[in-house]
Amino acid sequence: MAKKRIGILTSGGDCPGLNATIRGIAKACYEKFGTDDVQIVGIQNGYYGLINNIAREMEPYEFSGILTQGGTILGTKRQPFKMMSVIEADNVDKVKSMKKTYKDLKLDCLLTLGGNGTHKTANLLSEEGLNVIGLPKTIDNDIFGTDVTFGFHTAVDIATDVIDRLHTTAASHSRILVVEIMGNKAGWLTLYSGIAGGADVIVIPEIPYETEKIVSALNKRTEAGKSFSIVAVAEGAYDVKEAELKKKERAKRRAEAGITTITSTLAAQIQKGTGVETRVCTPGHMLRGGSPSAYDRLLATKFGVRAAELIAKEKYGYSVALINSQIGENPLSDVAGKTKFVDPKCADVITAKRLGVSFGD
Ligand code: F6P
Repeated sequence: MAKKRIGILTSGGDCPGLNATIRGIAKACYEKFGTDDVQIVGIQNGYYGLINNIAREMEPYEFSGILTQGGTILGTKRQPFKMMSVIEADNVDKVKSMKKTYKDLKLDCLLTLGGNGTHKTANLLSEEGLNVIGLPKTIDNDIFGTDVTFGFHTAVDIATDVIDRLHTTAASHSRILVVEIMGNKAGWLTLYSGIAGGADVIVIPEIPYETEKIVSALNKRTEAGKSFSIVAVAEGAYDVKEAELKKKERAKRRAEAGITTITSTLAAQIQKGTGVETRVCTPGHMLRGGSPSAYDRLLATKFGVRAAELIAKEKYGYSVALINSQIGENPLSDVAGKTKFVDPKCADVITAKRLGVSFGD
């Protein structure tokens, strides 16, 4: 019997838990099919490696000792979905090249670990006839159809630690600390770490804010005798006026103003409106670095094991997911092109509001 050949790639922004997932897939495949009957093929740097046939056959020992490792042993790269079907200056037909690599590597299936963009391309390849399984990764937690993505909870832990640390320095200096947290489209990370870290104001893209309302909430705290405040702002947040603009127009105006996010503008408005010294902290990519939390190791491992089960059943064209706390899968076509946003009326937002947290709305 020919060896089962399983291609794995990691695409888009990295996050803790990618290696734990790769390990879960590999170990479960070795268990299920036998070490001698399966060949894992590691594709380097995401779809870029698939387009350019940069791949190698991997040995079982390479999947040991990586459970706790951050990043991805396979490397990753952003390869925008919208350009996948566009022939650029290099004259490469990317879709054709990916299909050719799949064939040349004699793959039985391809496992793609990634976020929304990765899933769109995974679905495209599945529609093109390849056997594809997606695994949902991102610190943004915005993949449709899964309760949670791996990487998210680790990032929540890190962001919460940042907010904890900002509390002590904000209190010592009687300042307002505005912390910008990653999350371009969805505010999950800001919402969760904001609540867990005890932020006084939480600003997320799903709830466009009014600066006056944020200032008034902070002044109320001062009147109540609080000498400091913490404001958690999602990277993709905007106010009610910007909310009326199309995404492109918003980006254009920000570029003209020399900013990419609203955080520094909001911080300046807060300082002016409250008269309290205000500082900005941007942990940025630190939120994506380092070892996965125990939660993410467990989730990643379960996702990896599920992917191996799908391979055994030859059930392709799916993305592994946590659905109502149970491991399952969704058709790639149901997931691709959709974003899971925070519902402004969800229980978590209501919980925060009941504590007196302002969302600026
Ligand atoms: O998609 C995850 C994410 O971390 C977003 O929250 C952030 O906007 C983006 O990646 C930044 O990624 P990079 O700097 O790697 O392009």
